[in-house]
Amino acid sequence: MSTIKNPKDSLTVMTQIVMPNDTNQMNNLFGGQLLSWMDRCCAISAHRHCKRQVVTSTINNVAFKNPIPHGAIVTIEAKVSRAFTSSMEVIADVFLEEQRPNGARIKANEGIFTFVAVDQLGNPINVPKIEPETELEKERFAAALRRRQLALIIAGKMEPEQATELKALFYPEESQQ
Ligand SMILES: CC(C)(COP(=O)(O)OP(=O)(O)OC[C@H]1O[C@@H](n2cnc3c(N)ncnc32)[C@H](O)[C@@H]1OP(=O)(O)O)[C@@H](O)C(=O)NCCC(=O)NCCS
Repeated sequence: MSTIKNPKDSLTVMTQIVMPNDTNQMNNLFGGQLLSWMDRCCAISAHRHCKRQVVTSTINNVAFKNPIPHGAIVTIEAKVSRAFTSSMEVIADVFLEEQRPNGARIKANEGIFTFVAVDQLGNPINVPKIEPETELEKERFAAALRRRQLALIIAGKMEPEQATELKALFYPEESQQ
């Protein structure tokens, strides 16, 4: 596939309000509900990148840093950070808007997902390449390769010796030889 896309082509923004049914016993947003919103938002983002059907392959990391209270407005912004052969890493940034005068908009959480583009039979198919533009997109693009190598090693789909970029992080001297 020769087309080259930019992360902004896959930008997907989803806004929700936290209702009583979405909360846990602490009156904060239930983690599973947020995961579901993030998964949907990232799926649309992955689709916007490749324009094919996509499925969630893995949830690589989700950090619930700040609780999100009942009544808060939650905005999820998802973009493809790197595309490989059939898989795409999508990062979702979660922002919380307090519903009160002068309420702040703060970054509450972040999630990193991997989606795979599939054909009608569910077999993986190639996706367009991606070229990062902003500094943050370039950082995330570079780190995505290390995250993929780590995930594949943990899944038993890659030998640690093959993970050269990941190894370079721990043994920079060796990688320069
Ligand atoms: C996702 C799915 C299509 C992958 O099929 P597969 O036959 O395992 O395919 P592969 O092993 O060739 O992997 C496909 C891609 O995913 C990547 N991948 C696989 N496991 C991964 C992991 N743990 N972390 C990151 N990437 C991973 C592979 O590296 C490959 O990427 P590439 O083509 O860009 O190099 C298949 O497992 C599936 O259909 N799963 C169910 C999906 C689903 O229903 N999700 C909804 C939640 S229930």
